[in-house]
Amino acid sequence: MNDKRIEIEPYDYIEYFNRNTGLMVSMDKNGNPNVMALDWKSIEEFEGNTVIRATVAYTRYTYTLLTEGVNEFSVNIPSDKNYSATDTAGSYSGRNTDKFKKTGLETIPGKRIKVPTIKDCLLSYECQIIHSSKSNMSSHHYFYGKILAAYATNDILK
Ligand SMILES: Cc1cc2nc3c(=O)[nH]c(=O)nc-3n(C[C@H](O)[C@H](O)[C@H](O)COP(=O)(O)O)c2cc1C
Repeated sequence: MNDKRIEIEPYDYIEYFNRNTGLMVSMDKNGNPNVMALDWKSIEEFEGNTVIRATVAYTRYTYTLLTEGVNEFSVNIPSDKNYSATDTAGSYSGRNTDKFKKTGLETIPGKRIKVPTIKDCLLSYECQIIHSSKSNMSSHHYFYGKILAAYATNDILK
């Protein structure tokens, strides 16, 4: 149920964003989405834009999609209803597993981006990549996604 999904400002409810693992959705050029678990994320200011900075390992299929697929991503903070999907999203690769099928996670078409958000999450963000750079770890890369839309849903609003 997403009957109470409302648009919010990027920093609203940030304590929920900070304290929970995220589900990051990326997409290939054919429109196929993939989801991975994302702990290393922050909302911050970058060159006058409010962004989500996501730290993604080079080995992830997600990295391939962020660099060679659609130049956008969504970040979603699961609720009690779909939190268990985090395990699958964080332990299987989209290279050989359809994690949406495996978890039963349902998507909502993006409003301002092509990449969908995930249904029944506490918070969701639609982001367009405006910059990427090496991180302070040789294994990971930073992606800066300008927040074009942010949503809060049922469980957080009740
Ligand atoms: C709780 C949790 C948090 C994670 N956080 C990150 C993260 O911040 N960055 C990252 O690159 N991988 C992270 N991972 C690992 C990826 O989610 C995992 O390798 C995933 O299978 C990659 O999927 P993909 O190959 O479809 O991109 C995390 C895994 C778990 C279980």
